[in-house]
Amino acid sequence: MTSPHEISEMIEPLPHVAIIMDGNGRWAKSQGLSRPEGHLAGVDAIKRIVKAAVTRNLPILTLFAFSSENRLRPKTEVNFLFNLMHRYFDENLKELAEEGINIKIIGETDELPNATLKLIDHVQNATRDNDKMILQIAFNYGSHEEIVYAAKSIAADVSENKLSPSDITKETFEAHLRTAGLPNPDLIIRTSGEYRLSNFMLWQAAYAELYFTDVYWPDFNERELDLALKEYATRERRFGRISEDTISEDKQDKGFISKFSLKKATK
Ligand code: IPE
Ligand code: IPE
Ligand code: MG
Repeated sequence: MTSPHEISEMIEPLPHVAIIMDGNGRWAKSQGLSRPEGHLAGVDAIKRIVKAAVTRNLPILTLFAFSSENRLRPKTEVNFLFNLMHRYFDENLKELAEEGINIKIIGETDELPNATLKLIDHVQNATRDNDKMILQIAFNYGSHEEIVYAAKSIAADVSENKLSPSDITKETFEAHLRTAGLPNPDLIIRTSGEYRLSNFMLWQAAYAELYFTDVYWPDFNERELDLALKEYATRERRFGRISEDTISEDKQDKGFISKFSLKKATK
């Protein structure tokens, strides 16, 4: 068994890990329980993984808790999930703040009930000076909505003459996303055997390493997190370049290219 300390030592720099926490309903069904009970077990997994992330010194943990599209679920389930978020913070905010966690909640806020908006403000303000780890929670979040929101706010800046269209860069766009100010995830984990992003961080996932596991979210634990981190440690992130070893062996390439160009030129 690798200890949390050894895991942190193994990976340099430690990644921003984002998790698409999926499978609460199927987990409940497999246990003969109701979907709400599955979501409750999902909250226990959240508590476990937040602690584990701190122990492993992860700089940022992002959790996808509720998507824009999840609002299409039956009203009873949607209400239950909203109440669950309130309960989670009622019961855990004090401890999270004491552990030095800085909480950010991202997502569409226009149609959120006042009580939820107040909760978000309270949670963010209560933890804003903390620097042990950033816990970013995507709640009522969807990438399409986020990209439209960014486009609208850039358009507003242009129409108010704060920005010229020719000055719009990748960085401008990033600064208008709901994730502004935080780096993109390095590792995206999705549980429950689904192989899709479900409208999660489409812009930000451009160069993320993806890791899929069949484990349902309520069963996800420290061991599963370490498996994902160990797998991440073996990935070579090239960002479109070629690997370092290949660069040192490029004499052969140069020889080939010079002959190739010569042949073409003499044809
Ligand atoms: C993830 O579990 C929690 C949310 C999406 C809110 P699901 O509720 O999607 O569980 P399954 O996919 O039905 O098993
Ligand atoms: C993705 O899970 C959203 C969250 C985990 C919050 P879903 O269960 O909503 O995804 P789909 O519908 O199977 O794509
Ligand atoms: Mg699901």
